[in-house]
Amino acid sequence: MTTATYTIDEFVHDMEALLRDQPDQGKLFDTGTSYLDKLIRNPDAVPAEFRVPAAGANHGTYLLHQGSSGLSITTVVWGPGDHVGPHDHHTWGMIGVVENTLTETRFRRVDDQSKEGFARLEQDRKSEFKPGEITLLIPDVDEIHQMDNFTGRPTVEIHVYGQDLRGLGRCRYNLETGAISPFMTRKYDNC
Ligand SMILES: [Fe+2]
Repeated sequence: MTTATYTIDEFVHDMEALLRDQPDQGKLFDTGTSYLDKLIRNPDAVPAEFRVPAAGANHGTYLLHQGSSGLSITTVVWGPGDHVGPHDHHTWGMIGVVENTLTETRFRRVDDQSKEGFARLEQDRKSEFKPGEITLLIPDVDEIHQMDNFTGRPTVEIHVYGQDLRGLGRCRYNLETGAISPFMTRKYDNC
């Protein structure tokens, strides 16, 4: 098949086959990003109804696939000015931009992790991701980020995770106070 016609169903099939082989992290990301690259370059990969914010909101998250393996695939729409502060994921992730751009700020934790409920973060890098580009989340290594749509129109992304984010215990981080806030979502209103 050509890149222009690679579908969500084909991506799911290929990713589930990849996961059945229990790849190490390098293989997972090497092969998984080659699949995601093809998917986000297909202009018709995401149905039109999943390319717009939810009714009455400036954000949208739509489930495309939830597999028994844990593989979780969503479309995330960031409206103009949309923002989510620093948070972690506790699972691997691949995020590919389909439409417009999104600015991602990555943080590294620099405290000794001895104080419960506290974390000191430093900005590691800030990147603007364009259509066809992919950013990776590596659990416990490089997975704390903030997302911003600084543009005047919606940004559409495909998010791929190793686990269902519903019910997964994660944390938000306050850059000023250092406070860590545990959170858990029950719907796909997260990223
Ligand atoms: Fe995130």
